[in-house]
Amino acid sequence: CGIVGYIGKNKDAKKVVLEGLKKLEYRGYDSAGITVYNEEKSEYEIYKDFGRVQKIVDLTKDVAKTSVSIGHTRWATHGKVTKDNAHPHYSDTKRFIIVHNGVIENYEELKNIYLKDLKFYSETDTEVIAKLIEEFSKNRNTCDAIMDTLKLLKGSYALLVIDTLDSDTIYVAKNKSPLVIGRSNEGVTIASDLMALVGYANEFFSLPDHTFVVANENQVKMFNLNHEEQKVTYQEIDLDESSADMGEYQHYMLKEIYEQPSVIRRVIQNYLTDQKEIIKSELINEIKNSDRVYVLAAGTSMHAGYVGKALIEELVNIPVEVHIASEFAYHMPLLTKNPFFILVSQSGETADLRACLLNIKNKGFKTLTITNVKTSTLAREADFYLELFAGPEIAVASTKAYIAQIAVFAILANKIALNSIDIKSELNRVAVAIEIFLENQEISILAHEKLTKQNCFYIGRGLDYYTSLEAALKLKEISYIQTEGFAAGELKHGTIALIEDKTPVIALISNKDIALNTRSNLKETNARGAETIIITLESLKHKDDEIVLNDVNSFLAPMLMVVPTQLLAYYAALERGLDIDKPRNLAKSVTVE
Ligand code: G6P
Repeated sequence: CGIVGYIGKNKDAKKVVLEGLKKLEYRGYDSAGITVYNEEKSEYEIYKDFGRVQKIVDLTKDVAKTSVSIGHTRWATHGKVTKDNAHPHYSDTKRFIIVHNGVIENYEELKNIYLKDLKFYSETDTEVIAKLIEEFSKNRNTCDAIMDTLKLLKGSYALLVIDTLDSDTIYVAKNKSPLVIGRSNEGVTIASDLMALVGYANEFFSLPDHTFVVANENQVKMFNLNHEEQKVTYQEIDLDESSADMGEYQHYMLKEIYEQPSVIRRVIQNYLTDQKEIIKSELINEIKNSDRVYVLAAGTSMHAGYVGKALIEELVNIPVEVHIASEFAYHMPLLTKNPFFILVSQSGETADLRACLLNIKNKGFKTLTITNVKTSTLAREADFYLELFAGPEIAVASTKAYIAQIAVFAILANKIALNSIDIKSELNRVAVAIEIFLENQEISILAHEKLTKQNCFYIGRGLDYYTSLEAALKLKEISYIQTEGFAAGELKHGTIALIEDKTPVIALISNKDIALNTRSNLKETNARGAETIIITLESLKHKDDEIVLNDVNSFLAPMLMVVPTQLLAYYAALERGLDIDKPRNLAKSVTVE
């Protein structure tokens, strides 16, 4: 979910919040809502509904002058996608209005203890917070009532609270879920992500966990939960909003796919051309001295982590394990004596990873975050961070960040291995090969002719197996075709039973040594009626169902091999008329566990 708040007299609060929410829709877009202080009527009003932020823009078009506002765009956790479950939520008499990102684990228990006699309008955990604050406000001031509530909450929250008796204050609280506060001489803006502050604030700070803030137009005061005031240090905002423009493309995803060669060049520029040493010698030493590297990630970033494993093992000769973040956080495997941890995350905010990071830090081990967002929680809290330089990735399905993650892994591994390969020219070759492919690609025809079923398989061996996992995820995410990435040799041991007439099976073959085996596996599916496609770096007979890419270093082949699969997913979704940049049920950054 994404939340935004604004307090100030110089801007229209409603506009700041709604524009901010639009930028945060990547965090969820099931429902949206805001509350505004209507200056003309001298009262707070609430507008909310299921659907996108645009609906709220339309609903509020006649609300003229507003000075305080908080808003929310939702990715449903507790309760279905309905108007009642949309935020803001309010207390019994509607005195307190709140928006919340996170999950309150003990909300049922709190409801039973403190709020037994009250009527609830939603199925959310959030409504419990609003009602608790009101209960505690009966003989306490607002700050104390909120603090008392916070002390009872178990779980994660980024919380904005309005007391309707007061048109000058937004109360803010944070634990685990990210929140930043920005200021300028035009007021105070609060949001889940820096992106929503751009244009409205010159400087910002990130709230630490377990903090409570009282924000007025001219003043922001931060406290810990013992009511002790905390020092706030602002830093400048250096984000460029223009790079989040769709340009000539029909969708962000297509734009981001086509940006990939320039992303690779930007990574080269930052890591391998400029004089600055981004990869510090302390980091190199930590990894070199470790006896095992643990890579932790979710979704697409985990697939990049698999390729990273292969690169580190091959070039550095240290064993690497890749783990699903949500599993590792609570089922930590037996660790070696001297482990090193790499967290991979486009957003740097994924809550499953944050849980891992806290556990690892408690054990005193060292961590590196590889992320696209240098101001993110995971970048800030790890011992080291490496930036992807991919530019804002807006489409929910990740493409260019994945390529950049592999590039950064390759540069890091190569640096530890004392530059055993000429990584700069090898990465350049990949960029050129992607460009050549993108200039001539006819994937839309292939998607139309071959992806006619509601299921599909990608197969590959070695690095191609990892690419097949990512390719399958991409197709699932945006076209809703049920797709599996499979180790090519394993398909025959059971899953081949699912192959029917015209089931699409796409083989990824970048490794020449094992190419014939994979081709045989594909033939086995073909013999059972499958519709087959080969994506390869080396054509045997150049038939129609082969996509042949320029040859590149086999270590980096996953960066190239994935590109046709991204486009296959894109065109399959386009053909089905789906919302490509905002697929159903997903969010780009999932800040709940
Ligand atoms: C969400 C997104 C995925 C993404 C995953 C990890 O589930 O829908 O596309 O791969 O989170 O995100 P991260 O920002 O940590 O890379």
